Amino acid sequence: MTIKKNRVPEIAEAGGEIEKNDNTALENKRFQQEEDSTCSFDRIVSRSNKMLAIFKTIRKIADYKTSVLVTGESGTGKELIAKAIHYNSIRRKKPIIDVNCGGIPETLLESELFGHVKGAFTDAYRPKKGLFEEADGGTMFLDEMGELPIALQVKLLRVLQEDEIRPLGYSKIIKVDVRIITATSRNLRDEVNKGNFREDLFYRINVLCLEIPPLRQRREDIPLLVDHFIEKYNKKLGLKIKKPASDCLQCMLDYDWPGNVRELENVIERAMALSEDENILLADMLPPELYQVRETDEDNFSYFDTLSIKKNSRKLEKYLIIQALNETKGNKTKASVILEISLPALLYKIKEYQINS
Ligand SMILES: Nc1ncnc2c1ncn2[C@@H]1O[C@H](COP(=O)(O)OP(=O)(O)OP(=O)(O)O)[C@@H](O)[C@H]1O
Ligand SMILES: [Mg+2]
Repeated sequence: MTIKKNRVPEIAEAGGEIEKNDNTALENKRFQQEEDSTCSFDRIVSRSNKMLAIFKTIRKIADYKTSVLVTGESGTGKELIAKAIHYNSIRRKKPIIDVNCGGIPETLLESELFGHVKGAFTDAYRPKKGLFEEADGGTMFLDEMGELPIALQVKLLRVLQEDEIRPLGYSKIIKVDVRIITATSRNLRDEVNKGNFREDLFYRINVLCLEIPPLRQRREDIPLLVDHFIEKYNKKLGLKIKKPASDCLQCMLDYDWPGNVRELENVIERAMALSEDENILLADMLPPELYQVRETDEDNFSYFDTLSIKKNSRKLEKYLIIQALNETKGNKTKASVILEISLPALLYKIKEYQINS
């Protein structure tokens, strides 16, 4: 496999759009901040106490070379946090290089990170500067850290302890000054216990650990994020949607968001793209998994937006059927008994109300 040199996309400020570079097998991304841009947490939307505490810590430690490990479920914003650290630090004028350690053959990753001399291996037709050298004075963001092969873990330890690298096939060492931020959605402590991750490296990268809470543990951020993404996609899609309808917002507040902020962003983009109303985002535009949560929420009948018995009795009927199916783990015969209707009647209603059963 040939790896072409990575072209460097420039962005105006941290958290901005990242230009995808097809030229690289590694999908490394380098960010260069514009001279006058004062990076803040502008693009990280949150009001939850846990996140505000994280921002406070970032401001405090940004200028130190302290290694930071960012943990959290997929889509919680780990990359955004890593960039915020860099752009709030004195290193902001230097590059931040982002490398995803997952799923890349070891030799390829090694030569990308540490570089090689001409002839170091079969395909090494010309010398190549490693990304650590390119990040000199700046920050290296190593994503999916749990996937870093053991052999490279030793080399990384050397960067952390001695500030030096040795390109493949090169006899000398090169001094580098790079701040290392790592991220993982796996439990690295478990990987250490299983023997997949070096304990000494674990302590080195984990000098400071920032744990990003999942979105379901900071639901107060949901309305802010919804507004933020509506604004973002109004610009992108040329729309003028002002806000979500109250029942639509309620659905989003009730949902558990296994894909966290990324899932919320995708849901908003999809709903906006499909929206038939020019001003308001309606609940009908949400994917069914969000809708069903609302329907099964026992205590919450606030979504009755009309007093019409005719309309509400249909909602109530649908709600009762979903409840019965939940209770019987989807057994329709048992559900029909609880509901005191015949099985064919239940099957008909399931179809009519488009219930996922
Ligand atoms: N607090 C936030 N405010 C605004 N946007 C956010 C926030 N958190 C995450 N996002 C957005 O959600 C998406 C996912 O964030 P990011 O890529 O940083 O997550 P991640 O934790 O690195 O995910 P993964 O583990 O899958 O790599 C991005 O588009 C990001 O801009
Ligand atoms: Mg990430």
